[in-house]
Amino acid sequence: MAASKEYIPCGFLCRKKGFLTILCFSVLLVALLWKNKFSLQINFPDTPCDGETCRGKKSWGIEKGSVISAVGQTFQTWSNLSAPGTYRGCINFLDSSKKDLNMVRVEESKQMTVVRCINHCSKKVNTYVGLLGGTQCYCINFTGPSDSLHYVPTSQCSAPCSGDPTYNCGGRNSTFSLYRTKIPDSRCSEISLMPEGSMPLIALASFPRSGNTWTRRLLEHSTGIYTGSIYWKSESRQSIGSKVFLGGNINYNTGSTLCIKTHLFDVHNVKEFTEGAILLLRNPYKAIVAEAFRRQMIAKDEGPERTIQFIKSGGNNWTNFVKKNAGNWLATAVNWCRNSKRLLVVNYEELQKNTSKELIRMVKFLDQPLNMTRIACAIQELPSSESTGVYLGNHGIKTRSYLTFDPFTKLLRKLLDGHIATVNATLIRYGHAPLPNYKEAKLLF
Ligand SMILES: *[C@@H]1O[C@H](CO)[C@@H](O)[C@H](O)[C@H]1NC(C)=O
Ligand SMILES: *[C@@H]1O[C@H](CO)[C@@H](O)[C@H](O)[C@H]1NC(C)=O
Ligand SMILES: *[C@@H]1O[C@H](CO)[C@@H](O)[C@H](O)[C@H]1NC(C)=O
Ligand SMILES: *[C@@H]1O[C@H](CO)[C@@H](O)[C@H](O)[C@H]1NC(C)=O
Ligand SMILES: *[C@@H]1O[C@H](CO)[C@@H](O)[C@H](O)[C@H]1NC(C)=O
Ligand SMILES: *[C@@H]1O[C@H](CO)[C@@H](O)[C@H](O)[C@H]1NC(C)=O
Ligand SMILES: *[C@@H]1O[C@H](CO)[C@@H](O)[C@H](O)[C@H]1NC(C)=O
Repeated sequence: MAASKEYIPCGFLCRKKGFLTILCFSVLLVALLWKNKFSLQINFPDTPCDGETCRGKKSWGIEKGSVISAVGQTFQTWSNLSAPGTYRGCINFLDSSKKDLNMVRVEESKQMTVVRCINHCSKKVNTYVGLLGGTQCYCINFTGPSDSLHYVPTSQCSAPCSGDPTYNCGGRNSTFSLYRTKIPDSRCSEISLMPEGSMPLIALASFPRSGNTWTRRLLEHSTGIYTGSIYWKSESRQSIGSKVFLGGNINYNTGSTLCIKTHLFDVHNVKEFTEGAILLLRNPYKAIVAEAFRRQMIAKDEGPERTIQFIKSGGNNWTNFVKKNAGNWLATAVNWCRNSKRLLVVNYEELQKNTSKELIRMVKFLDQPLNMTRIACAIQELPSSESTGVYLGNHGIKTRSYLTFDPFTKLLRKLLDGHIATVNATLIRYGHAPLPNYKEAKLLF
């Protein structure tokens, strides 16, 4: 945006050259007015949640101590662990498999709200609810594979709930808002720790914000075995450890978990995992922006506007941040490739595109039995944003909607493209598939 460009050279000139001060201040004033007018373009907290279910609610709703992505909650609608359900997307039920849906209309009311419908159906032991036409509540016992649901853009579910118009309750005729209740899906809800010393030490290694948490949950649901984390000490202090990742409560070294999350990449960190690793790779342009948001929003408990400011300032801090993280991205990929005894490379973009295919590769690599019922259930419990159109993940931080500008200068792009080429060549040299074509992915932030 134009505004940010005016600020920096102007402040600089003002300090350097006294005679330009007045001119500068006028430019600054115009820039300020300009900025205020156009800051509306950025999806700031209190603008409506473009296309998500909520209407006018804060689109930024992370609360201290609540971790969202791991339990698959949309932060727009259900931003805390005590919410009774999770938004899953907008479904066209005419094109979905009726047999798998098992749906029954239970109520039509002028007082319909999402919570009312979820509570009603939870009492009746249903795993899902569908809300239709603003007033109708359906209980659903979903038992099929995830591809028997036909997702449509959330904008097609825009009928305000009759009892609380802040939220939407489906569309007018054949689309409903689908919510997951807290009733466990018994096909894959049982997950346990293995006896100590019975599991090999295998890492789940990645640069931050590359799908590590999502992959852990997918693997746990698919195999029934908890994953661990080298960050177990801090994980066990957070709700993510005590409520979601039970394997994150114990020392990762005890050999009772399926695989172990790590973001470390020094040679000794790699070699510690004597039985190898799964290396998760994601487009660094996206991972680095997402990491900038995580630093501010999760680690420092601040709203997204601080991160946007940080990125927009475009100064040394942002440049250094990108350089440092680009280096870590490169080192993560290259070091695990070179030094791991046995390695499976999984691309986050492919996991998004065909979750089933990549999950099967990982379960096989981990030498666990393939149970297709569990795998179908895992994907249904933890759907990709690609399949649902709803961005559930990454601690509820929807980075793309916050940035409406390109945060990378030509120089930074050159650096990142060089790193991407290096990683690509390294992967090929060590017998892995090349990186997906990141250029095809529109860098729409
Ligand atoms: C969490 O969300 C639910 C449902 O939206 C709400 O009723 C409850 O008050 C929230 N809890 C907190 C601690 O904000
Ligand atoms: C869903 O399943 C539960 C438990 O299996 C059962 O009690 C309930 O009646 C079912 N609901 C529907 C709508 O089929
Ligand atoms: C759905 O409803 C809208 C108006 O509410 C109507 O224009 C449209 O044709 C309907 N679609 C179907 C498939 O019935
Ligand atoms: C697969 O998992 C389901 C649900 O957990 C279980 O009932 C079934 O016995 C498993 N199948 C095999 C072949 O182990
Ligand atoms: C850059 O970082 C330094 C040190 O962390 C801080 O003191 C300074 O205010 C930052 N500058 C900007 C423009 O954010
Ligand atoms: C996903 O991969 C599997 C196995 O290779 C394939 O059978 C299936 O058609 C793929 N699905 C999609 C949506 O590409
Ligand atoms: C990786 O290398 C292969 C083979 O040279 C090439 O086809 C592909 O486009 C490269 N991918 C990236 C992301 O550069």
